[in-house]
Amino acid sequence: MAIRKVTTYPADVLRRKAKTVTEIDGNIQRLIDDMAETMYNAPGVGLAANQIGELRRVIVVDTAQEEEESKRELIALINPEILEVEGKHAIEEGCLSVLYFREEIPRSEKVLVKALDRHGNPIELSAEGIQAIVLQHEIDHLNGVLIIDHVSSLKRSLYKQRLKKMLQEKK
Ligand code: NI
Repeated sequence: MAIRKVTTYPADVLRRKAKTVTEIDGNIQRLIDDMAETMYNAPGVGLAANQIGELRRVIVVDTAQEEEESKRELIALINPEILEVEGKHAIEEGCLSVLYFREEIPRSEKVLVKALDRHGNPIELSAEGIQAIVLQHEIDHLNGVLIIDHVSSLKRSLYKQRLKKMLQEKK
């Protein structure tokens, strides 16, 4: 396992659509392990493959936020698809790839997701609350969509200016 570098906006790879995984093999399992380690190291509650520069439809999620390894609740999904949504919910979201930005993002309250697990077995997962939000956030990544796409164009352009300034100051 390895901690990988998390790509940040405006990197092109974050704007590309990740490709469907057609072969579940050791490479995909290694990718999942790297993504999990990178997520826990950040720390974050979710990560999509695009964020470490891999255009494959793989996400990892763990909203338990437990430091102890034995208490972790890692969910790794390959080719996740949202089948059903219900209700509305919004919490303040941040993203490891969108620096210096936190906003309430309108989402569905509950989701039903189908995917393959790390061994290629089909699974269905129904989620609500934070877990449902993180799933929507990570699946957005696989489609090249970021949290800044869910806010007004004014907020987005203010963010772009702010980011530019912050990055210049860091140099
Ligand atoms: Ni994100």
